[in-house]
Amino acid sequence: MFDIKKDNWESSYAKGQNFIYYPKEETVKFLNRFIKKKKSLNKYIQLIDSPQKLRGLDFGCGIGRMTILLHEFDIDGYGIDISQNAIVEAKKLSEYFGFNLEGFLQAYDGEKIPFDDNYFDFTISEGVLDSMPFELAKRLIKDIDRVTKKYFFLSLISVESADIFRQVKDKEFFDGEVEVEEEHEKGTIQSLFSRQKIEEFIKDTNFKIKWCELHTVDSCISNYQHGRWYLVLEK
Ligand SMILES: C[S@@+](CC[C@H](N)C(=O)[O-])C[C@H]1O[C@@H](n2cnc3c(N)ncnc32)[C@H](O)[C@@H]1O
Repeated sequence: MFDIKKDNWESSYAKGQNFIYYPKEETVKFLNRFIKKKKSLNKYIQLIDSPQKLRGLDFGCGIGRMTILLHEFDIDGYGIDISQNAIVEAKKLSEYFGFNLEGFLQAYDGEKIPFDDNYFDFTISEGVLDSMPFELAKRLIKDIDRVTKKYFFLSLISVESADIFRQVKDKEFFDGEVEVEEEHEKGTIQSLFSRQKIEEFIKDTNFKIKWCELHTVDSCISNYQHGRWYLVLEK
């Protein structure tokens, strides 16, 4: 049994943290490049084969901004998260944007994904598998492998972000994990990723790296630096 930090995530959402209302540009790009290319207001070119309407899993969906995006692309998007508070908010947000996602959003136990093998054509996950102990993330990516047919698009915080955490002493290179002391997401775990750690992360799955970008941001007025990996894994 892992400590999945459910109470910390519930309390984070109760304070309105991670109420991010619009999808990430990188996720829009992933959908356009690998899943469905939008050609006009309601026309798409589908880029992967499927006998039925495409299904996508938004793993660790938070308040559902990317689950809603999947439905905008006319994909059956399912969002799961350990936080019931987040799921309640996701239902409100989807209604606000005119979607009824009853049956598409659910809280789960944080360890076993409640869907059958190969249920999804693809999975997306933004900033989730880096928000937990590495050992749990390694177990969960195997379960994502189980439920996913083709692609897994994910983002992970990189070693360049060590600056953000005052408890990290070796800011030059740190690819371990820390318990967050700062107010935002207090008490949760952040696991920072190097390229080597990514290889270790996927080595026991059927996924291979199809596309990998490291996006770094440097402040012009201080030494602040931040980085995230954006990865497309493929079978
Ligand atoms: C930084 S937030 C990102 C939320 C969302 N993906 C987004 O981009 O808006 C991390 C999310 O991971 C969820 N989470 C943490 N542990 C999880 C687990 N074991 N399984 C699924 N979700 C988890 C948290 O509840 C939280 O919603």
